[in-house]
Amino acid sequence: DAASQTYDVVIIGGGPGGYNAAIRAGQLGLKAALVEKRATLGGTCLNVGCMPSKALLHASELYEAANVEFAGIGIEVKPKLNLTQMHKAKDDSVEALTKGIEFLMKKNKVDVVKGFGRIAGAGKVEVEAEGGAKTTLATKNIIIATGSEPTPLPGVAFEDGKVIDSTGALFLPKVPKHLIVIGAGVIGLELGSVWRRLGAQVTVVEFLDKVGAGMDGEVATAFQRGLTKQGMTFRMGTKVTGAQTSKDGVELTLEPAKGGAAETLKGDVVLVAIGRRPYTQGLGLETVGVTPDARGFIANDHFKTSAPGVWVIGDVTHGPMLAHKAEEDAVAVIELIAGKPGHVDYDLVPSVIYTGPEVAWVGKTEEALKAAGVNYKKGKFPFAANSRAKINHETDGFVKVLADAATDKVLGVHIYGPQAGELIGEACMTMAFGGSSEDIARTCHPHPTRSEAFRQAAMGVEGWTMQA
Ligand code: FAD
Ligand code: NAI
Repeated sequence: DAASQTYDVVIIGGGPGGYNAAIRAGQLGLKAALVEKRATLGGTCLNVGCMPSKALLHASELYEAANVEFAGIGIEVKPKLNLTQMHKAKDDSVEALTKGIEFLMKKNKVDVVKGFGRIAGAGKVEVEAEGGAKTTLATKNIIIATGSEPTPLPGVAFEDGKVIDSTGALFLPKVPKHLIVIGAGVIGLELGSVWRRLGAQVTVVEFLDKVGAGMDGEVATAFQRGLTKQGMTFRMGTKVTGAQTSKDGVELTLEPAKGGAAETLKGDVVLVAIGRRPYTQGLGLETVGVTPDARGFIANDHFKTSAPGVWVIGDVTHGPMLAHKAEEDAVAVIELIAGKPGHVDYDLVPSVIYTGPEVAWVGKTEEALKAAGVNYKKGKFPFAANSRAKINHETDGFVKVLADAATDKVLGVHIYGPQAGELIGEACMTMAFGGSSEDIARTCHPHPTRSEAFRQAAMGVEGWTMQA
């Protein structure tokens, strides 16, 4: 019985942060409870984030290929969209994944306590189940892994089916005629791609002059050009100041970010994707004297909050808001609680945007190296010169390797191109071992694969690219 024992650790939140912490706790012999308010485990990522979005990206990519590319390689079909089935396939996959997490909790002897968790002073977590029944868990350590939620845009209130967040965009019952996306970040460009491929006209309104929230500038330029070629329209350097909904859609008021005359833009659905914010509502932080910072994040020092025995990981604390970052935090925090040397290198957390083609990077951008005054060398290789990409008609994009001019140590790798998300793992590994561009250049790579483009880019740093 959960109420009658003292846990080593009670984790609030069953997302990639929480469930991975629970698994690691079980592996290290700690008695753990995982508290989750949703009916299913897996958090944002499995339920309404990474996984359902990737299901729709995969299905819509195949649909578009069948529409646009198949005839050229001698396959003649006339695809017909069955959106209900597409959603069902996505929902079935998500259900299988969340059930998998339930299984992992059993396997690792973690008690799953469903309900809303609230810290009720040091060493106490009160859980309110759906019907209102309350259980108090006693514990030596509390881990906050409550994640994040979409940031609303003032003046553009959410309205079911019309002004939506990412969750709404994962469940649209029909393809919008004109989808307006506010924010050319990861969510906007991934989900914008999904609905464009399925037939929507997509306009992306972005405050900055650059897409992709923080990606390398040269990649951002190529990426935006690629998306534009696919039919997405961009309104860069533009802010949205208001929204008016009516029976047949939404009218947005836009203004140049630098000031100027206002204009309007009409669509039938507006997706607000301007970032996510930490979620700590009703968490009882005041009972242990923890105060979130001005942006709502709970600060940490090696995952410790300002309250003894209270730890924090994942989206709700600092660092990139990514599932694999939450997972790294999770392993490290449990290892620290178990007296081991848990550690995360935030410089080596990769980013991937799962568009077609994908964008992936790890380490420093050229802009960051310049700003820091680092003397670097650069090697770049286009997929247009990679034989596998050519054969597959996937020649958009390039690989860029940045290495220290003096030591040749790899400082950043940026890929825009086919399977970039899979390719970046090799760069992460090289950098984790402190590898040089010559290490990559002298490592035999299989032919014909896209990974040869990575090797050729590294050869480019050495000045001996062989195939371009
Ligand atoms: P979450 O996954 O948000 O989990 C927190 C959990 O805590 C939730 O289930 C919530 O219900 C629960 N909770 C909160 N408060 C309480 C409480 N008081 N009591 C009980 N339970 C509580 N990241 C990637 O790395 N790759 C991707 O491809 C990717 N795609 C994404 C696509 C979309 C559309 C979105 C929205 C996000 C995507 N992300 C992706 C981001 C990723 O989902 C998050 O970084 C990740 O889920 C963070 O994990 P977390 O455990 O910190 O929080
Ligand atoms: P984001 O931070 O990636 O992008 C937000 C964009 O909106 C930025 O380009 C920003 O300049 C712009 N913006 C902000 N305010 C604006 C305004 N008022 N008007 C117009 N534009 C404005 O955030 P997004 O796309 O909402 O995603 C949230 C987070 O979810 C991501 O940062 C990422 O951590 C995670 N995520 C990760 C994915 C992946 O790893 N593939 C996929 C989807 C989400």
